[in-house]
Amino acid sequence: MSKADLILRSARLIDGTGGPSLTGDLAVTDDRIAAMGDLTDWRAGIEIDAAGLALTPGFIDSHCHDDLALLQTPLLEPKISQGVTTVVNGNCGFSLAPNPPGRGPLPQPLASLVPDPALMFPDFAAYFARLRDEPAAVNSICLCGHTTLRHAAMDRFDRPATASEIATMRALLDIALDQGAAGMSTGLYYPPATAAPTEEVIEIGQVLRAHGGLYVTHMRNEADGVIDSVRETLRIGRDTGVPAIVSHHKCMNPQNHGKSAVTLAMIDAARAAGQDVGLDAYPYVAGSTFLFPDRVEQAARVIVTWSEAMPEMGGRDLSDIAADLGLSLPEAAKRLLPAGAIYFQMDESDLRRILRHPLTMIGSDGLVADPHPHPRAWGTFPRVLGHYARDESLFPLEEAVHRMTGLTAARFGLQDRGVLAPGAFADLVLFDPATIHDTASFAAPKHPATGLRGVWCNGRQTWTGHAATGLRPGRVLARIS
Ligand code: CU
Ligand code: ZN
Repeated sequence: MSKADLILRSARLIDGTGGPSLTGDLAVTDDRIAAMGDLTDWRAGIEIDAAGLALTPGFIDSHCHDDLALLQTPLLEPKISQGVTTVVNGNCGFSLAPNPPGRGPLPQPLASLVPDPALMFPDFAAYFARLRDEPAAVNSICLCGHTTLRHAAMDRFDRPATASEIATMRALLDIALDQGAAGMSTGLYYPPATAAPTEEVIEIGQVLRAHGGLYVTHMRNEADGVIDSVRETLRIGRDTGVPAIVSHHKCMNPQNHGKSAVTLAMIDAARAAGQDVGLDAYPYVAGSTFLFPDRVEQAARVIVTWSEAMPEMGGRDLSDIAADLGLSLPEAAKRLLPAGAIYFQMDESDLRRILRHPLTMIGSDGLVADPHPHPRAWGTFPRVLGHYARDESLFPLEEAVHRMTGLTAARFGLQDRGVLAPGAFADLVLFDPATIHDTASFAAPKHPATGLRGVWCNGRQTWTGHAATGLRPGRVLARIS
């Protein structure tokens, strides 16, 4: 007879590879999967009858802004209640490091994500050390943000970086990668980086190659310029010689609906030509970011997620606020600044086409600290499993799980994660495939999903199905290329 700490019996084992599921048992000892299959002659201190339930690798949220949340709300209930066991941070150009001493106030919108510059870290070594001292309930990896690098090296952002500023950013990125950052992200859409030409990104990004780092981008334009932006992203990937990943891919505004057929064909052609490319998406036709008054009129609907000037407006439709104030939409938006918003600007067919693309990983892009967040912060993974895989038959459950586990682990070089296999880390999710369902809505976004029965990270249970256990077994993971 063999012994383990935990055995889940008779589960539908969905191993994260995308292959067909099998019914069997799974045993955990310490932080690893000890055995799988028929474990009738095994015993454990905790044995769970998982008949009728799906057991999968822990979900890896490929696109996160939980850099600060890991420290401020380390249980990260919005994520663990969805089955997330690993988050990928430092996206869209924004990371908490490096922020060398003596830099001035943070530029917007970085200042909205990081309310006090004292919350930044001089380098990734300091950030990761803090995360190891005060662990969260999830594992994390982190990209180094290009906007953060610009803040570290430049005194104004309305122009391209000079040669010496680029040299400074290259040196800082090199150190960040040495210290364990997984790559570089850009937010070329956002003001502190819009003036950065393609060449600036390439020159800095060339540092990535020697470290096996990734290039991950919130592209310059996801609306009228989306095709040009994909072209730019592919060029940056080619000229730096590293994998290029398009973040939260979408085509915004009615005149651009349908263009995902073109952008995905471009990605396919690049891949066929030997280029390493990837993308992620969240399962909603509305996005969420900062409130930009000049962009509110293009959206079908805008919901305010937070406002520093008028906090009481969080959760309300901008059109209602504008009517109450007797102002136009852009004027009302200006009154609320700085503020965040949800924008309804995408098309369901584009969303489905993107979700089904073979390279698409699931990433929430959730902003968990927002007072009235986009429901993706709480509902992304259950929505893909319940709504899109089960109810809409967009893809088989095994494929849905692959897009949030094995595919993402391989993309980010996370060894022994994202799969169920003896010897792999015991990051696990147990859920009922018949009932899993996202309950977070645009009206009431802070609600945990139903149908989850348990979540384990490194062999320790973080979520019971109803509540956090309080355990914080998360680790800082390094990318292995
Ligand atoms: Cu993002
Ligand atoms: Zn973004």
